[in-house]
Amino acid sequence: MKKIPLLDLRRGFEEIEEAVLAGIREVFATMKVLNGPNLQAFEKEFAEYLGVKYAFGCSCGTSALLMALIALGVGPGDEVLLQANGFIADLEAIHFAGAEPVFVEVDPETFGPDLEDLKKKISPRTKALILIHMYGHPCEMDPILELCRDYNIYLIEDASHSHGAEYRGQKVGTFGHIGCFSCGPVKNLNAVGDAGVIVTNDDNLAYKLKYLRVHGQAQKNFSLFPGFNSRLDEIQAVILRAKLKFLDKKNEIRRQIANYYREHLKEIPELYLPKPDPPHIKSVYHRYMIGTSRREELANYLNSKGIETGYYYPYPLHLQKAYTDFYQRSWNLPVAERLAKELLAIPIYPELTQDELNYVISTIREFFNKN
Ligand SMILES: Cc1ncc(COP(=O)(O)O)c(C=O)c1O
Repeated sequence: MKKIPLLDLRRGFEEIEEAVLAGIREVFATMKVLNGPNLQAFEKEFAEYLGVKYAFGCSCGTSALLMALIALGVGPGDEVLLQANGFIADLEAIHFAGAEPVFVEVDPETFGPDLEDLKKKISPRTKALILIHMYGHPCEMDPILELCRDYNIYLIEDASHSHGAEYRGQKVGTFGHIGCFSCGPVKNLNAVGDAGVIVTNDDNLAYKLKYLRVHGQAQKNFSLFPGFNSRLDEIQAVILRAKLKFLDKKNEIRRQIANYYREHLKEIPELYLPKPDPPHIKSVYHRYMIGTSRREELANYLNSKGIETGYYYPYPLHLQKAYTDFYQRSWNLPVAERLAKELLAIPIYPELTQDELNYVISTIREFFNKN
């Protein structure tokens, strides 16, 4: 039986192997392991890639989100809007900044926040919106930017699923006051371990972000403001520099795979698929999410045929036990709850073979009796 993992991190290493091994040898030779030349080069290269003024490597996406809120001065007494289908790290950041999350219903077409509900949830205490470009799909930015301007709300983009995705030709992560990226092992731009980047065009925020990750020490051994330790090390920077060179090519292959899935699965009535990109949007398909009310059955069937699948995310944020006691509000978010029960990730990565793709498609069709 074929075995197709949801993601196979071993594949695709050959093309970066030489650069990575040479870079790591250099790190060992110099033992400049923190704040070295690779970090600085990666920050410059990633900023140029995105078209943004500043990029700062940090230890992970979670700390990037927390630093974003702290740098913007979001804290006790403030509300932060967050779509309910997000990842737990976004909620953690709000919690540890001391602010209060306000969960927003989900638009099932973009997987971003539902605009009507977003508007309704704005209050005099709303200080920021964390916007997640889920699964590699950019949110519909024009109305969101307008809303943030009209109501004076800070915009933090979480582009952890969306390195290289574009909205009207501009890379996501660069629209808001601050953009946060996880570059963890499973991401489109991935380190071999934890890693993150935080970006901004604002000079004052850049100063804060640069030093928040090193104990607020803009001067050696002298903290100018409270910070913590959230650095990106040289070895991960070497790997990210090598991977960045291939990001566009790999994202293009992801789009081709998504088109192929769509073409071959679209006429199954019990299944819903990500919508094709409108002309102003370029998705990067970090995940390919298919939806069905028969999710468990379908997942079990695919797994029994050697195809690994995943749920992202099976519990919406407003139902996460760790936080329900803190924020005792009742939420009416039926779309977020339905998507949490119905969405299923099937394998999508640039190194999938044609044969594997066809096998995934024919097995899904078989389940729905479409062969
Ligand atoms: C949307 C999103 N935001 C933030 C994070 C947190 O990133 P990290 O694991 O690098 O802390 C993740 C990680 O999976 C994520 O998917």
